[in-house]
Amino acid sequence: MLTSYSRPDPLRFRSVLGHFPSGVAAVTARDPEGRPVGMAVSSFTSVSLEPPLVAFLPGRSSTTFPLIAEHGTFCVNVLADGQEEVCRRLSARGGDKFAGLDWRPGPHGDPVLDGVVAWIGCTIESVHDAGDHHIVLGRVDGLAADTAASPLLFFRSAYHQVAA
Ligand SMILES: Cc1cc2nc3c(=O)[nH]c(=O)nc-3n(C[C@H](O)[C@H](O)[C@H](O)COP(=O)(O)O)c2cc1C
Repeated sequence: MLTSYSRPDPLRFRSVLGHFPSGVAAVTARDPEGRPVGMAVSSFTSVSLEPPLVAFLPGRSSTTFPLIAEHGTFCVNVLADGQEEVCRRLSARGGDKFAGLDWRPGPHGDPVLDGVVAWIGCTIESVHDAGDHHIVLGRVDGLAADTAASPLLFFRSAYHQVAA
């Protein structure tokens, strides 16, 4: 194993941090015209049980996060294995990311995508600056899970599945 104690350059930072495995979530909301908006994130986590809080970290350059922030509510969709294409669509910049995607309105009308492992509907509690990202805390208003479904995993810049 390589050992380095020096301040990491961005490439090394990304590479080493990419060794922390995560799931992938689509954070969805509506724009001021009521159109669905969303972005793929791996930076989703549970934060607090009482009160029920979760968090995700959008980049400051995201064009979708300002729309989510303006809306004030969002829905976290935990993607299932086989939803790599949904992830690619929601990580693209610009265009109609929802064209051809099936979804229904969840809490506050924010999109719940078909086939997800779980969804968590939230109201934005606070937004904190953190370097080139924000930390967004959401208060959970409603949630559900498909206990039979398997999640999409992200590890070392590639998609994986839970071993059977
Ligand atoms: C697997 C995966 C995980 C991602 N995780 C994050 C994340 O945690 N935070 C973030 O800001 N962008 C993340 N992105 C990038 C965004 O999905 C997207 O590229 C970015 O929001 C640009 O689109 P926008 O301008 O519509 O926001 C991730 C992309 C992928 C493919």
